[in-house]
Amino acid sequence: MNWHHYVLGCVAVCGFAGCNPQGAGPAAIAASTPAGGAAHMVSFQKDVKPILDVHCSDCHLSGKKKGGYSLDSHVSAIEAGAKGARIVAGSSASSNLIQRVQGADGVKRMPPKGEMLSAADVAIIAGWIDQGASLE
Ligand code: HEC
Repeated sequence: MNWHHYVLGCVAVCGFAGCNPQGAGPAAIAASTPAGGAAHMVSFQKDVKPILDVHCSDCHLSGKKKGGYSLDSHVSAIEAGAKGARIVAGSSASSNLIQRVQGADGVKRMPPKGEMLSAADVAIIAGWIDQGASLE
C-alpha cells in the first residue's frame, strides 16, 4: 500500500486516536509522513481555511474577533493572544486552538455550541500546525 493512502485512510477511517496505539495524537500522523519527496504539505488557504470558514466564521472571521481572536489571516491566527499562543508552530498538541476544537479538559471548547469538528478536520488543522504552520 502506498503511504499516502495509508495516511489519508487512517485519518478518514478511524481518526487519529484509533490508528495510533501509542496515543501520541496527530503529531504521529504528521511524523509518519515520509520526509521530503512527495510529502503532502497541508495548505492553510486550500485545506485549513475552508474548515474555519464553515465552523468559526460567526465569531472569528470577516472582522469578527470574539475573545480578541481573528482567523481572517494566517498571521492573525498564529499571533499570540492575551492568554498566550493559540497556535504553536510544530506542535499541535501544545496548541490551544487544537485543544479547544478537540474539546479537551480545562479549555473552553470551540465552537462553543453545536457540532464539534470531525476527527478528520481536526487532523488536517493539526497536520498544518505540525508541519510548521506555513503561510501557503
Ligand atoms: C459562537 C461564537 C464562536 C464560534 C463559532 C467559535 N468561537 Fe472561538 N471563541 C469565542 C469566544 C466568545 C471566545 C473567547 C472566550 C474564550 O476564550 O473562551 C473564543 C476564543 C477562541 C480562542 C482563544 C483565543 C484566545 O487567545 O484566548 C480560540 C483559539 C478559538 N476561539 C478558536 C476557535 C475556532 C478554531 C473555531 C472554529 C472551529 C471557533 N473558535 C469558533 C466564540 C466562538
